[in-house]
Amino acid sequence: MHNSKYWVNYFSLNLKQKRINWEIKPELNPTERKSILRSLQAWQLGETSEGSNLIKAATKFSKKLHDEHYVEAIKLFIKEEQKHGNNLGNYLDLIGEERIKKNWGDSLFRKFRGLYTDMEFWTIAVITVESAAQIFYQCLKDATNCKLLKQICTDILIDEAPHISFQIERLHTIFNQKNKLMKYLTYKYYHAFYFATALVVWQAHQKLFKAGGVNFQKYWKKMSLKFEKTIEKLKDPSVSGTASKLCQS
Ligand SMILES: [Fe+2]
Ligand SMILES: [Fe+2]
Repeated sequence: MHNSKYWVNYFSLNLKQKRINWEIKPELNPTERKSILRSLQAWQLGETSEGSNLIKAATKFSKKLHDEHYVEAIKLFIKEEQKHGNNLGNYLDLIGEERIKKNWGDSLFRKFRGLYTDMEFWTIAVITVESAAQIFYQCLKDATNCKLLKQICTDILIDEAPHISFQIERLHTIFNQKNKLMKYLTYKYYHAFYFATALVVWQAHQKLFKAGGVNFQKYWKKMSLKFEKTIEKLKDPSVSGTASKLCQS
């Protein structure tokens, strides 16, 4: 468990890392282009969010917990996601494809998020999407021989693992403040939300997943394992007890 100041330092340093060599020319053959393009465009859009609702929710949360560095950490986190969107966008520009403005999955997710203004829902939504993102970007990387695209994916994958740690630590704090019954009910809700979203993501991007060598069974197993390592651990009191103290230190 880390406090928000740790995350501010981590994100500030990580944002300075340059892991992509933009001198490399993109080389995407027609078969690869066919199997990845639509998903690439959709995720590029998804990574490009302004994050103003998330900042609002984080501001409320940080006041409640007297966690003065949390909003700054969230702003840097959003910056990192926007970096992913920019990199994927630059790649689309280089291969002469458009950056899309609308996509049903993205619109649905945005609408859903717009209904909620509290940090708890945001956090569970982000953890769910980030878990799918880890599988997605690994598949995208495996579905192409283009060196530049592989580097872009590697950079995102390096960023994504800490994103999940950052969010799950905050969810521990929120979860730990509930009584027994609410813990039981919200856990059920997290579970349902996570796996329903996982299904939607599979439905929308199965072509890409398969091109990356991941069929539904493998995908489901990976998503389930990620769930065990993150959300399921919320039920372990030895892990959840320390988070709220750390936020304030
Ligand atoms: Fe991202
Ligand atoms: Fe992320």
